[in-house]
Amino acid sequence: MTIDYKQDILHFDNNNILEIAKSRQTPFYLYSESIIKNNYNSYSESFGDHSHNICYSVKANSNLSILSLLAKLGSGFDIVSGGELTRVLTAGGDPSKIVFSGVGKTQEEIIQALDNNIMCFNVESKDELNTINKIAKQKNKKANISFRVNPAINVNTHPYITTGMRDNKFGIDQSDILSLYKDASMLDGISIAGIDFHIGSQIMELEPYLESLVKIIAIVDDLDACGIPLKHIDIGGGLGISYEGEPIVDKSLYISEIIKIIGNRKLSLVIEPGRSIVGEAGLLITKIINIKESSTKSFVITDAGMNDMLRPPLYEAFHSIIEVVNTSTPKTSYDVVGPICETADFLGKDRKLSVSQGDFLAVENVGAYGFVLASNYNTRPKIDEYIISNNKVNKIRKRDTIDQILENEIKFL
Ligand code: LLP
Repeated sequence: MTIDYKQDILHFDNNNILEIAKSRQTPFYLYSESIIKNNYNSYSESFGDHSHNICYSVKANSNLSILSLLAKLGSGFDIVSGGELTRVLTAGGDPSKIVFSGVGKTQEEIIQALDNNIMCFNVESKDELNTINKIAKQKNKKANISFRVNPAINVNTHPYITTGMRDNKFGIDQSDILSLYKDASMLDGISIAGIDFHIGSQIMELEPYLESLVKIIAIVDDLDACGIPLKHIDIGGGLGISYEGEPIVDKSLYISEIIKIIGNRKLSLVIEPGRSIVGEAGLLITKIINIKESSTKSFVITDAGMNDMLRPPLYEAFHSIIEVVNTSTPKTSYDVVGPICETADFLGKDRKLSVSQGDFLAVENVGAYGFVLASNYNTRPKIDEYIISNNKVNKIRKRDTIDQILENEIKFL
């Protein structure tokens, strides 16, 4: 158990959360190094001797310490911007293990990636292919590319986080893919490396991956027959985590089923997991500012708001919220809301809690898409981040100051 109560005090990764919260300014994010390591290792141990690259998806949690921890474990990275590339390099990541995804890479970003000799561009359109080719030729280089195929698969997740359905902006239609590979094979600035797909995020079933892979493997075989052999297949990320106790797909089953379909083809396997590595490794610790009862509802008002944690309002995402001190007094049903002037500013609705003003709460499973989606809305500083490493709590990001928030603004009038 990585989270449990000992003598009614919440412990996370064996550390007393009350002690941690009392001596720090709330709200703050708190991560566990050991959970991240375990998740990474369960992926890496699943491949056996199959050639592979785990490219952690930086967008899920891009704190430099987390990237450096993963780089030291041997991870590669999936990036979607020049900013993410700079982060990975600053954290000590190996550029030859970086894949660059995204539908709108700018010329500047392509130049930066080529100058750093990344492993592969995951190309999303013919326009993008031509831009990469032009820039690579100017530099007398060959850019390694894969095409991202849209496998037109329906997945059961929130509509905002599907990416491989027919109408999504991502990927290239299967009907166009062969001719695009043939075009690419004629270009001097391009070296064809692989093929990729990504069907969405928070996926709780194995079948959509396997169904997509069967379609992609058929393309790989057709390409091979045309004299365009590929070196790798990138199956994206997207494996879900358990937010409400629901069963998850086992990482080693996922990898072994994929390897089975690849069969004896000489294809290295690339994966781009984000949430399934860091999601359950994070808590948001917040303090109750006020409790407010109206005639129809009771509210717990916390010092964390939607600017700190956007997933509940944006996706109606459920995150469990638990007391840091467990009391035996009867529980009341509360909407847990933040201090922001928006009705959408909630962390959770109808939660059974036994709490008073000044108590601490922990919001669970916020290691992925938590801090990275934070903003300065309502001119609120982005908050501190800490990581538990060898039973010590280390600060890995300082809270913004108001001066920092104002510093780039230009008072014109
Ligand atoms: N690769 C690509 C190309 C992606 O677009 C994504 C996520 C990943 C990998 C990593 O997926 P993961 O393993 O983390 O599911 N903000 C949303 C999630 C958006 C995911 C976008 N793409 C949320 O909070 O649920």
